[in-house]
Amino acid sequence: MRQRIDKLAVIGLGLIGGSLTLALRNDDFVGESVGYTLDYNNAKLGVELGVVDRAVETIEEAVCDADVILLAVPVKAFEEVLAQIKPHMKTCAVLTDAGSAKGVFVDAVRKVFGDVPPNIVPGHPIAGSEKSGVTAAKADLYVNHKVILTPLAHTDTEALSLVRTMWRRCGANVLEMSVQHHDDVLAATSHLPHLLAFSLVDTLAGDQDNEDIFRYAAGGFRDFTRIAASDPVMWHDIFVANKHATLRVLDRFTEGLASLRDAVESQDSQAMLGVFTRARGAREHFTKVLSGQSYVKTMNTDNVVFKAQPGGEVCGSIRVAGDKSISHRSIMLGALAEGVTEVEGFLEGEDSLATLQAFRDMGVVIEGPTQGRVRIHGVGLNGLQPPPGPIYLGNSGTGMRLFSGLLAGQAFDTELIGDDSLSKRPMERVAAPLRSMGAVIDSSEGGRPPLKIKGGQPLKGIHYDMPMASAQVKSCLLLAGMYAEGETRVTEPAPTRDHTERMLNGFGYKVLRDGATASLQGNGQMIGGKIDVPSDISSAAFFMVAASITPRADLTLEHVGLNPTRIGVINILREMGADISITNEKKVGGEPVGDIRVRHASLKGIHIPEDQVPLAIDEFPVLFIAAVCAEGETVLSGAEELRVKESDRIQVMADGLAQLGVRTDVKPDGIVIRQSSMSGGTVYSHGDHRIAMAFSVAALRAQGDIIINDCANVATSFPNFVELASRVGMKVSVGGGA
Ligand code: S3P
Repeated sequence: MRQRIDKLAVIGLGLIGGSLTLALRNDDFVGESVGYTLDYNNAKLGVELGVVDRAVETIEEAVCDADVILLAVPVKAFEEVLAQIKPHMKTCAVLTDAGSAKGVFVDAVRKVFGDVPPNIVPGHPIAGSEKSGVTAAKADLYVNHKVILTPLAHTDTEALSLVRTMWRRCGANVLEMSVQHHDDVLAATSHLPHLLAFSLVDTLAGDQDNEDIFRYAAGGFRDFTRIAASDPVMWHDIFVANKHATLRVLDRFTEGLASLRDAVESQDSQAMLGVFTRARGAREHFTKVLSGQSYVKTMNTDNVVFKAQPGGEVCGSIRVAGDKSISHRSIMLGALAEGVTEVEGFLEGEDSLATLQAFRDMGVVIEGPTQGRVRIHGVGLNGLQPPPGPIYLGNSGTGMRLFSGLLAGQAFDTELIGDDSLSKRPMERVAAPLRSMGAVIDSSEGGRPPLKIKGGQPLKGIHYDMPMASAQVKSCLLLAGMYAEGETRVTEPAPTRDHTERMLNGFGYKVLRDGATASLQGNGQMIGGKIDVPSDISSAAFFMVAASITPRADLTLEHVGLNPTRIGVINILREMGADISITNEKKVGGEPVGDIRVRHASLKGIHIPEDQVPLAIDEFPVLFIAAVCAEGETVLSGAEELRVKESDRIQVMADGLAQLGVRTDVKPDGIVIRQSSMSGGTVYSHGDHRIAMAFSVAALRAQGDIIINDCANVATSFPNFVELASRVGMKVSVGGGA
């Protein structure tokens, strides 16, 4: 494989070509760079400015002996320049280009060469500036910018790799896609916006009052039309080159604009709000994607590292993030109810935001979230519309399992997908009982996501005895039961969280409870209302353990949900000797809440009662930290469900504790933990938010720093965890280095 370019020839030494040679000037990767421009003086200027090594007067001189040739000329000149280059190129030379449309380049190559030779690699650096010419060349123009290469099926891998390396050496992120896809994407993201900006400015400038319009035009007009100052000739050429893809996206846009016009004319608030809230949501979503914090698949690959230091305190009064389970359900039931549902305290974490986005994609108008406030314009049980593509649920098992129930009864097909962790989690537990209700669901190997759900299937009620204590399975079947004929009954082997039942009843959809069985009749109706989401006891749990194990700690956690099916962590910690008191108890929207005060106490090890396991199912990672600090031995059994959470929480915690010098006995359904000191060390959360936060708490009693890798997913359930931890006196920071 070639590792070096002895001679790099740039045809068209302007901003784009000049920035490439400048960026590679002091890099051993390139022996000599040679620049050619139509006006020789410009190439000479490039040499004087130190942009390129040598200027040449003819194309022949530039390309003879060159190993790599970059064509950085206007798209309309491709054919002519290629014809001039062809007779003088070495047979093994690699030719690439920098044109904004790729189909036109490939067509020009075909015309000149008869076919596209394997050593030609079409490319497009997405970087530029309003300035042009060799004087505008910048060594860092490509740093952190994207370069798209569009190889063909028979493009030589060595040639591709050489071009890829060349751009990477300039600091660019190199992507690959097909020629057609490139032209479609660019038509939508670049060419159409330019067309609109040119058109808007031209239309308004032709107006009689144009002076006023331009004089008083404030930020909106200026922002929207900034790109109308771009080079007219270049853009003319681009629209000629990418005509078909531009017309396709322009037609779609024109249709959208026409229906928005109708909505404005007929004062159709629902339609206008629908467009605006969806657009705003999508725009925020892009901003997050670009800044690397989004809940979408591509972004969570970053290794966010927490550094947790010993010596912190745990004092004060805080309100932790909203309850994740209730937040998911507030959106789901609000969307399927009649009328408007107003939610307060909504968790703006990635999981619940993914649920919100999914309903927007199915045509539900949702305003917010703004500081935990969301307004959902319910569409009724049968008002959802087909989503434009697969529904992405991020890291959320709750999302995928509850959605599978409510989508099984829709008239349209859907596909549910998730991130790497979710893609490994078992879905057969919901797919199997749903199938026995009449649903048609395909899953991947081993019953894993993606789930493909066929629409238009008549469902019938069943009685299902759950083999495991799972609120997600129960909720999934109750949601499907709303679309089923007759009664759906679900019996649980042990009590699990009952937020779905409470919220359904609150919205007027009757759910009966008979011992361990919850049941409802199909084809009912929900009326939206107000939902006050309490703080998540699962998030509060980190601070409850933090306060319990830290000398002199005294912490109050405000407005925490105290649903009896969720308070296992309080029961377990109290049995271990924790000092926990509850005040201000009240009921909000059918859910009990209260303030929890926790003070330091010396804990003792216990055998955790198995009936508490489902009631504390998400709190075990941090309870294991409490166990390490508790005198004697703590034994957990009957908790095999922990192995199929966001990670295998038994093994991942045992591995992390081992890194801190704590030995544990791992069992198939639990763990035995003895009191131990903890050293500092490096641990891995395996993308599991609760593991990351549990080890942050461990540092309070460790003898050295704990470096926790893979913490990006803390944003799924508790986006401001680090901020609140610091506020109470813990020493946790982001980006400590692995
Ligand atoms: C949840 C139920 C639990 C829990 C999860 C949230 C819910 O899962 O672990 O974090 O909102 O219904 P299982 O039903 O799998 O136990």
